[in-house]
Amino acid sequence: METTLAIVKPDGVKRGLIGEILKRYENKGLRLKAAKVITPTIELLEKHYEEHKGKPYYKPLIQYMSSGPVFAMVLEGENAVKIVRLLNGATKVEEALPGTIRGDFASSTTFNIIHGSDSIESAKREIALWFPELA
Ligand code: TYD
Ligand code: MG
Repeated sequence: METTLAIVKPDGVKRGLIGEILKRYENKGLRLKAAKVITPTIELLEKHYEEHKGKPYYKPLIQYMSSGPVFAMVLEGENAVKIVRLLNGATKVEEALPGTIRGDFASSTTFNIIHGSDSIESAKREIALWFPELA
């Protein structure tokens, strides 16, 4: 069974959107396998976002992601990776369709409420980073 990592980012937690977001995943048939509320360290975030190092948005992204608690979760289900990305919506705020999490709640590409792993390989790497205790 496929698993993926989703993270409700600090603005999503501050706005009280954890329940709303989890409900959308569960309504679609995904099951919650593990979850935690943590304020991620810079070290963890630099590993998580290593492919973005050097991009103009990299520093603000790391700063934003370390600014408060996030809700990290492992979700399981058929096609879990693609389904979470579909429910999350497009990265660019102006392309995130209504009905998606970003389309409904995000007003900025950088402060975009939610993360989802982009492939099965990324999901494995990210779950190992955020949930080393599951290994
Ligand atoms: P990316 O992995 O491209 O998007 P996604 O989260 O949809 O997989 O980018 C990671 C994060 O970096 C993204 O959620 C928000 C931030 N970001 C920006 O702030 N500006 C940008 O132009 C891009 C591409 C990303
Ligand atoms: Mg990504």
